[in-house]
Amino acid sequence: MKVKKKLKHFLPYSRQYIDKKDILEVSKTLKKDFITQGPKINEFEKSFAKYVGSKYAVACATGTAALHISCQSLNLGIGGNLLTSPITFVASANCAQFVGADTHFADVNPDNYCISSSSLEKILKKKKIDIIVIVHMSGHSADLDEIYRLKCKYGFKIIEDSCHALGGKYKNKKIGSCFYSEISTFSFHPVKPITTGEGGMITTNDEKIYKKLLKFRTHGIHKNSQEFINNDLAFDHSGNTNQWYYEMNDLGYNYRITDIQSALGNSQLKKLDRFIEARRKIAKIYDKGFSSNEFIKTPKVSPNIKHAYHLYTLMIDFKKLRKTRNELMKQLEKFNIGTQVLYIPVHLQPYYSKKYGFKLGDFPVAEKYYDNCLSIPIFPDLKKSEINYVIEKINYLVN
Ligand SMILES: Cc1ncc(COP(=O)(O)O)c(C=O)c1O
Repeated sequence: MKVKKKLKHFLPYSRQYIDKKDILEVSKTLKKDFITQGPKINEFEKSFAKYVGSKYAVACATGTAALHISCQSLNLGIGGNLLTSPITFVASANCAQFVGADTHFADVNPDNYCISSSSLEKILKKKKIDIIVIVHMSGHSADLDEIYRLKCKYGFKIIEDSCHALGGKYKNKKIGSCFYSEISTFSFHPVKPITTGEGGMITTNDEKIYKKLLKFRTHGIHKNSQEFINNDLAFDHSGNTNQWYYEMNDLGYNYRITDIQSALGNSQLKKLDRFIEARRKIAKIYDKGFSSNEFIKTPKVSPNIKHAYHLYTLMIDFKKLRKTRNELMKQLEKFNIGTQVLYIPVHLQPYYSKKYGFKLGDFPVAEKYYDNCLSIPIFPDLKKSEINYVIEKINYLVN
């Protein structure tokens, strides 16, 4: 196989794929009367719900906003307790803090780096937890059956943080179907499975939760005359609703997505299956390419999982290699290969260690993962020659 000496362009660990159709859809929307709250949002929500197999979908500003109003709609507040994985983006833990609740962690499973049900149960025996935020790390679903068993036993609610896992499946159920959970949340940041620039989505099968989400997404305002409280202001002398009238009964935010973004989202969603297939093909080539490297472990996939491969993360034994991760990342950068460390364990972030006293050693599997992980380029239009180039350079440097 022929591999180029040094690639002329940089390969990031992930990036968006935007084609002419996407651009056309966005331009068409820019010419319409409504560029913010028009028909594209509803269209995006409907197609998204249909794709994942949920009853409802609510589009919003970001994946972080999605987590925030999900917590709010499940009534998490001061005195409440949310638990998540330490191996995630900080937003999965921060959503508890936004509503005045406390954040807890359980260690991860050494096979897939999603939350470990045995570590989770140890905590549940001691502490009442209201919400578990399950992170489908890298696009590999957590063990939802086992977590659901614990849900029935201990009575918590589940938010699936599915930001990595759109297009993936657990036991033939699409991630986002909410078969095991109250809510599932998504992000459309450019590195994610599909993009709207910034953007997020929430899916649920519960009508009450759905209605709350709609309200919290837009300042807590609603226009449902049956729920108006200030009747003197809401209705005229003949009992007709004043047409301008709206009410704010709860505190909400401006977490809306725009029509421009939703036009892009709709167009991207049509390509999602192709994107996922491309990612899965790349993963297969990587698996083979690193299989005989004694310093490298490639990602494992548990039975009954369709991995969405948002990330392809190598576990590298840097101690045995006698090279630091920083050195390797710099060497790879010189070859125009971008890599990333995802994530620094959240319990070790100064905000959390200061507030709750978390320290190194609290979650050993998560910490070991952090010591060894390195995410390498994976995105839909990564070419075969580029994949082989990455394999060759990594095997050359990790030796
Ligand atoms: C697991 C996880 N949760 C939440 C988020 C937050 O999403 P956003 O960046 O759209 O706010 C991200 C994105 O980085 C993520 O990877």
